[in-house]
Amino acid sequence: MTEQELFELAIGARGRSYAPYSGFTVGAALLCTDGTVFTGSNIENASYPMGMCAERTAIFKAASEGKRSFCMIAVAGGPAGSGRTACCPPCGACRQVMREFAGPDFIILFSDGGGGFAKRTLKELLPDDFGPESLS
Ligand code: THU
Repeated sequence: MTEQELFELAIGARGRSYAPYSGFTVGAALLCTDGTVFTGSNIENASYPMGMCAERTAIFKAASEGKRSFCMIAVAGGPAGSGRTACCPPCGACRQVMREFAGPDFIILFSDGGGGFAKRTLKELLPDDFGPESLS
């Protein structure tokens, strides 16, 4: 699975977003270390705070299927009804959820607003992190 292939799966997942309130559709594709991929999209709700981001949808789908080890996630987002992607780095809550199951070298690809994707590590996006070991 190449980075480009994972990003294209995120674009495909974006098509399954439910975002009638924000009008901003997001898709994610999560690559597990065993090679399996889980996709997710943002799912909004009439009670606005109950909505869920695409990244956490994908991570919770994977975790609830027993996966605990992830190596890369791709995220693609932009205005609904448009093929265009915007710059869409993961929100802070999603970064923290990634941290639960991923180490500092976990790779995050996100649409860069120019038709391609940017590449970061979790350590870059979440420095001075609080993780499971912080509780011991
Ligand atoms: N959203 C995501 O799905 N992932 C992010 O990392 C940023 C924001 C969603 C949440 C909401 O449904 C919409 O984008 C607008 O904020």
